[in-house]
Amino acid sequence: MKKFPYTPLQVAVHVYAWSGLILLLFDFLTGRLSANPIQDMERRTGRHAITLLVLLLMCTPMNTIFKWSEPLKRRRALGLYTFLYVTIHMIIFADLDYGLAWSLLLQEVVQKPRLIVGFLAFLIFIPLAVTSFDIWKVRLGKNWKRLHRLVYLIGPLAFLHYIWSKKGDVLTLQGEVVKPLIYGLVIAVFLVFRIPPVRKAIASFSTRMLALLSGRTRQPKVDTP
Ligand code: HEM
Repeated sequence: MKKFPYTPLQVAVHVYAWSGLILLLFDFLTGRLSANPIQDMERRTGRHAITLLVLLLMCTPMNTIFKWSEPLKRRRALGLYTFLYVTIHMIIFADLDYGLAWSLLLQEVVQKPRLIVGFLAFLIFIPLAVTSFDIWKVRLGKNWKRLHRLVYLIGPLAFLHYIWSKKGDVLTLQGEVVKPLIYGLVIAVFLVFRIPPVRKAIASFSTRMLALLSGRTRQPKVDTP
C-alpha cells in the first residue's frame, strides 16, 4: 500500500488554517453569524490571523527546545495562511464595511491608531509573503533571513491592534482584554526567546534535559558472559 505522503503536523496545519474560512462560510450560509455579520466576519478572520501568527512564531522555539525540526518546514505555509487571513480581514473591512469608499477609508484609518497599527502590520507582511518562495531565498541570500526577521515586528503590532480594538481596562483586567493579553504574553515570550543569549541558554538547558531523560529511559546494560 502507498504511504500517506503528509506528516500529522502538515495535516494539522492545513486543517486548522482552512477551518477558519470553512466555519465562517458555513455560518454565513446557514445564517449563524451574529446580528452584525460584517463585524462578526471581521473579528473572526482577525482572530484566526493572529492565532496563525502565534503558531508561526512558535516554530523556532519548538525546534530549539525539543530539537524537533519539522515545525521549521511548516513556517512558510503558516506565514502564507496568516497573510491570507489578514488580507481577507482587510478586504471585509474595506469592501463590505466601507464599500471601497477610499477617501472615507483613509480618513477612518488615519483617525484610529489601532487601524494605523493594523495597516502597518499588513504593509510589513507584503514583502515577507512575496519573498517566502525558494527563488527569493536564493536571490536575496543573507538578506532573506534579515528581511524575514520582520515577522517579529508584526507580532507586537498585531497585539496592539487587537487589544486596542477591545473595550476594557488592562490594569483591572475588566472587560474584553484578557484574551488579547494572553496573546500578547505569548508573543512577548517568543520575542524574548529571539534574544541570542536567552536562546543559547535555553538550547543548552534543553539539550542537557533531553540527554538526561533519554539516559533515564534507556535500559540498563546487562553483561553477557
Ligand atoms: C497583521 C495584521 C492584522 C491582524 C493580525 C489583525 C487582527 C485583528 C484582531 C485579532 C482583531 C480583533 C478581533 C476581535 O475583536 O475579537 C481585529 C479587529 C479588527 N481589525 Fe484587524 N488585524 C490586522 C490588520 C488589520 C487591518 C490592516 C485593518 C484595516 C485597515 C484591520 C481592521 C480591523 C477592524 C475594523 C477590526 C474590528 C474592530 C472592532 O470590532 O472594533 N485589521 N483585527
